[in-house]
Amino acid sequence: MGYEHILDMKVYIETYGCQMNVGDSEVILSILGKVGYSLTDDMNEADLILANTCSIRDNAEQRIWGRIEQFRLAKRKNKNVRIGIMGCMAERLKSELLESGKVDLVCGPDAYRRLPALLEELGHTTVAMDVELSRTETYADIEPKRIDSNGVSAFVSIMRGCNNVCSYCIVPYTRGVERSRDVESIVREVRTLWEGGYREVTLLGQNVNSYSYTDKEGKHTGFAELLRKVAGEFPAMRIRFSTSNPHDLSDDILYAIAEHENICRHIHLPVQSGSNAMLEKMRRKYTREWYLDRVEAIRRIIPGCSLTTDVIAGFCGESLQDHLDTLSLMDKVGFDSAFMFQYSERPGTLAARKYEDDVPPAEKTRRLNEIIEHQVKTSGRRYAAQMGKVFEVLIEGPSKKSISDLCGRASNNMMCVFEDKHPDRNRVGSTAKVRVVGSTSATLICEEIENAI
Ligand code: 5AD
Ligand code: SF4
Repeated sequence: MGYEHILDMKVYIETYGCQMNVGDSEVILSILGKVGYSLTDDMNEADLILANTCSIRDNAEQRIWGRIEQFRLAKRKNKNVRIGIMGCMAERLKSELLESGKVDLVCGPDAYRRLPALLEELGHTTVAMDVELSRTETYADIEPKRIDSNGVSAFVSIMRGCNNVCSYCIVPYTRGVERSRDVESIVREVRTLWEGGYREVTLLGQNVNSYSYTDKEGKHTGFAELLRKVAGEFPAMRIRFSTSNPHDLSDDILYAIAEHENICRHIHLPVQSGSNAMLEKMRRKYTREWYLDRVEAIRRIIPGCSLTTDVIAGFCGESLQDHLDTLSLMDKVGFDSAFMFQYSERPGTLAARKYEDDVPPAEKTRRLNEIIEHQVKTSGRRYAAQMGKVFEVLIEGPSKKSISDLCGRASNNMMCVFEDKHPDRNRVGSTAKVRVVGSTSATLICEEIENAI
């Protein structure tokens, strides 16, 4: 292959953005591992510095430009160091990144297999780039090299790209068209994880509900069947998934969850806005009423299922009434938690071309703060409502605040913290039965029930 001379090189990688990017960094590391790169967590000893980047909002990109300056300081100390930009920002800005003169390598989300070749090129040219998008690449056969893993919970990418055209969103442009990964390769990856001691997987895609794979014999598998298959084959593995689109969340998917105790009782269902006028402009393909109907179906079919969401404040033309509609929807649903953002115009998106970004920045901030305040109260209430309940927790490690406490999630994704009654044992990856005795707006304070399983 000609890469034999690249031996014993060190790569430093920073990952930004969504869980998909975390999964992709693990694919990148696996590909680089095959040509002699090992991971370092010290930028100053790296031969190759990579940032796997996000373009979702302008501030995400600004942060990366700031990091690039830091990378350049490391390069000043050792001029042989290469700086590479991977991911969504690589795809969005393409040669603009190279033209900045600040980076050596640009590689888009579907081009990671070409990284070794691009690095070879860098041996005799000053810059290298591949931002080709693919209709078929799923990296199905690449076994990701886990980074920063707790050895308990891992991401498994089941599809790539996105066929929705939400008008505010850059993702369809940076990650290309939707393609689903071969079912068998997903099952194989979950098996490898199970055998390696992992006890929880999160099936990942920009829109997992529209997972759709047809094998060579013409057998089709949709998301509900995929869930049934993975959950059935690994009954002691916890299964999570993200992200769901309300438009494609069918009752069949909800029944698949209800049928399997090991599919976690949590759905992340981004609503974006509670106003029909905004939802239409956002091209979300559902209405407020449709969303509330899906919430009702979730509560009916999967009792105890927790619900989280994403909300955008201050989209183009958002009136005060539209904003109030978002608050009232949030009140009506009572989300357990939410990611909340100010609208950030992304060049090239439908919204950027068609609508004026006309909510003044200060008003966007005010609305966002109002939304956050609302949600913090709701989360506080939702977490407090768990008082006295008994949960099975998958232990992830010591708690952040105290090493004599353990932490882990309940099936409903709520983080539980409790005193370790058996500090002599290594309990990471095993389960504990706990009772909730207190709460904050993001954590359940628990005590372990003796005679635990
Ligand atoms: N501005 C602000 N937030 C955005 N999101 C996506 N695009 C934008 C944008 N242009 C949010 C959505 C999405 C989450 C991942 O990021 O809420 O669900
Ligand atoms: Fe960011 Fe979206 Fe790309 Fe994920 S897919 S890294 S959230 S722009």
